[in-house]
Amino acid sequence: MSALDNRPLLTLESVDQPEQQLAHYQQLLKQHGSPLLVFDANVLRNKFESLQKALPGVDLYYAVKAHPDSHIVSVIDALGGGFDIASAGEMDLLLKHKISGRRTIHTHPIKKDQEIRDALRFGATTFVVDNLYELKKLVNYRSRIGVLLRVSFRSESAKVDLSKKFGCSPDEVIELVSAAEKLGIHIKGLSFHVGSQVDNAAKHVEAVHACHSLMEQINLSADKPLSVLDIGGGFPADYALAGFDIQTFCAPIRDALSALPSDWHIIAEPGRYLIAPAVTSITTVAGKSHRNGFVWYYLDDGIYGSYSGQLFDHAVYPLQVFRGGEKHASIIAGPTCDSIDVVAENILMPSLEIGDLIVGHQMGAYTAATKTRFNSLPDAKLIVENL
Ligand SMILES: Cc1ncc(COP(=O)(O)O)c(C=O)c1O
Repeated sequence: MSALDNRPLLTLESVDQPEQQLAHYQQLLKQHGSPLLVFDANVLRNKFESLQKALPGVDLYYAVKAHPDSHIVSVIDALGGGFDIASAGEMDLLLKHKISGRRTIHTHPIKKDQEIRDALRFGATTFVVDNLYELKKLVNYRSRIGVLLRVSFRSESAKVDLSKKFGCSPDEVIELVSAAEKLGIHIKGLSFHVGSQVDNAAKHVEAVHACHSLMEQINLSADKPLSVLDIGGGFPADYALAGFDIQTFCAPIRDALSALPSDWHIIAEPGRYLIAPAVTSITTVAGKSHRNGFVWYYLDDGIYGSYSGQLFDHAVYPLQVFRGGEKHASIIAGPTCDSIDVVAENILMPSLEIGDLIVGHQMGAYTAATKTRFNSLPDAKLIVENL
């Protein structure tokens, strides 16, 4: 038997005024159908401001890949945020809002020539590389760009270890900066991503210290000193619903940054922390059965849809039901014909009826972004509140 699924599950007993919440969700379903993803713009504004306060002096570039949606872009735009982009599709999304390429960093370390030209036409001037082959691709465009060199800092605690795939090792930095200089390419500074959804800030701190010392060493003899440090993303979402506090999380990062020269430009590329809590999934129980000692609930959204992050992003989303009482070993499955399409296996929960709602919290990051249309089922419609 599979292990018990211990994710947070909110029931009638564990929530204040669940009737109001339920009435609100039911109203949305009546108006827009099921399944839905509900984006609350106020939550995004709130998180953006909290991260700004937690990292004063750091310019925030929203990582569009986390949830490439037009409404989300418009909120970040109004807040004066920048954008971390990695593809022509992401640029197209920003173009619809007439956002200048100058407010973006192109962070994909590996680019085809066409992609570089698309980004230049869009107006991007900051690019990221992590090896000599990529530096050479930029030679023809060197007068129009500034480059960040991405450094790898592997993290055991990150749910998604992004330094596994990209970034040169700290040992290669000095050599690559001098190779760039010989090619006439201006390296403005260093960047890193310690991995997404980290447990604590230890890797950020280690990476800031290491980059600080490398940049100072390079600046001793550089014609044009390095003065930009991009500390990436990684700031976690509160999937455990444990009252995560970004001020406390960032305190050691603030300390590490306070040692840097005051004229350096520090930027970050947060995705998950900003958008995960701003989106809630609402699904409906479409069917129910009793099989092999479990109660099975079949939803109208699942692993191929809004819950795709459980597979691709290794996230486990807190769930909420609007029933209480005795709990039974249950399985929550998605709507496709595939048996991998299971949202929660062996979860203890109150008995639900067909037509009941199941709500998923913290579902804004790497959810809709990775959905597919398997079985040609309709995907969740995004509804926007408080825009
Ligand atoms: C280059 C880059 N920047 C920023 C992000 C956003 O990271 P997070 O969602 O952990 O804040 C990612 C995530 O994949 C990334 O690859």
